[in-house]
Amino acid sequence: MDQPHTIDYRVLVDNLTTAILLVDSKLNIFYLNSSCESLFDMSLLRANGQPVLNLLHMPNDEFNTEEALFNTLATGQPYTRREATINVNFKDIHVDYTVSQLNAGKPYHPLLLIELNPIDRMLKISKEENLIQQHQVARQLIRGVAHEIKNPLGGIRGATQLLARSLNNPEYSEFTDIIISEVDRLRNLADTMLGSRQLPSYEPVNVHEPLERVRSLIANQTKKKIKITRDYDLSLPEVKADRDQLIQVMLNISVNAVQAMMENKDFFTEHQPELVLRTRIQRLVTINGVLNRSAVRVDIEDNGPGVPEEILESVFYPLVTGRAKGTGLGLSIAQNIMHQHNGMIECQSIPGKTVFSLYLPWESNHVAK
Ligand SMILES: Nc1ncnc2c1ncn2[C@@H]1O[C@H](COP(=O)(O)OP(=O)(O)OP(=O)(O)O)[C@@H](O)[C@H]1O
Ligand SMILES: [Mg+2]
Repeated sequence: MDQPHTIDYRVLVDNLTTAILLVDSKLNIFYLNSSCESLFDMSLLRANGQPVLNLLHMPNDEFNTEEALFNTLATGQPYTRREATINVNFKDIHVDYTVSQLNAGKPYHPLLLIELNPIDRMLKISKEENLIQQHQVARQLIRGVAHEIKNPLGGIRGATQLLARSLNNPEYSEFTDIIISEVDRLRNLADTMLGSRQLPSYEPVNVHEPLERVRSLIANQTKKKIKITRDYDLSLPEVKADRDQLIQVMLNISVNAVQAMMENKDFFTEHQPELVLRTRIQRLVTINGVLNRSAVRVDIEDNGPGVPEEILESVFYPLVTGRAKGTGLGLSIAQNIMHQHNGMIECQSIPGKTVFSLYLPWESNHVAK
């Protein structure tokens, strides 16, 4: 006869998509499940003992969260708040949450059970899908334009060389040299716009490998003017990826960070420019409309002045740039490569803290479409 399944309730609670928090009678957190860790981007270890009001209550909130929580503790009367705003890592997110008393056999020390449902997720998915579509249209347009620019360049270059030879006069060669070097510059630009022509070759990659390559390239280039901090989770699983393309993605993002820090030296009067390379496992992450149980996350963070506010929303679009000499292609190419890997890049930025996060699914662990 089959044995009835025995259930480890902790596993069950950790697999719920609802975020759950347990709070003691002093309103300090003492447990959060995996969904909640990922909602607040905070591990149980870090959250343990912290006042829950730090997470749930906003300074400008008219609702008296503290009083409501103590009231449920004392009376056992549950309550629900809809569309409450909470702030996670500088980003406002909206949640519905329910607070109820949990009397786990100790009548003198009741606990609070808080169940949170982020309501931005659905909004965010449709926004992301929209963005991806617009992005693809823009990329096709760019490739079309690049192709058309590139076609006549070969002819112009060849004709200029012939002209230079037949003129055979050093006085004019200055002009023909200018034409040739400008044509070469345009051709390089068009090549970058067209993106890599090589087909990606996917193999198991430990993300720390390309990341370390990028770190040493940047360290050499900046010659210790920028502090580079590593914060790696070495237990990360391998992902299926094209190693060279991952290097390109990480390099494009790191070079941007370095440029933002080096070109704005007056921003650093009291602190040192710093690049942080961080790797983590991210639970429950929606990538391109698919909810993944977990993904590998690589953060490239800098403490520079931040992405200019007027381009923050469109920063991944081709030709969007905040720099006088920028072409605005680096991030668009990087995002494109990540899409080909079923991954994505996200950006959060305020002055003093800019984080570009790469997400790569590491197995087919989609839980919903
Ligand atoms: N870490 C960062 N800090 C501040 N601004 C940034 C950062 N990363 C990107 N940006 C802004 O985003 C813009 C777009 O970046 P992107 O890499 O796509 O193009 P670019 O760097 O201007 O040109 P290219 O990479 O093609 O040479 C940059 O010009 C810059 O204004
Ligand atoms: Mg760039």
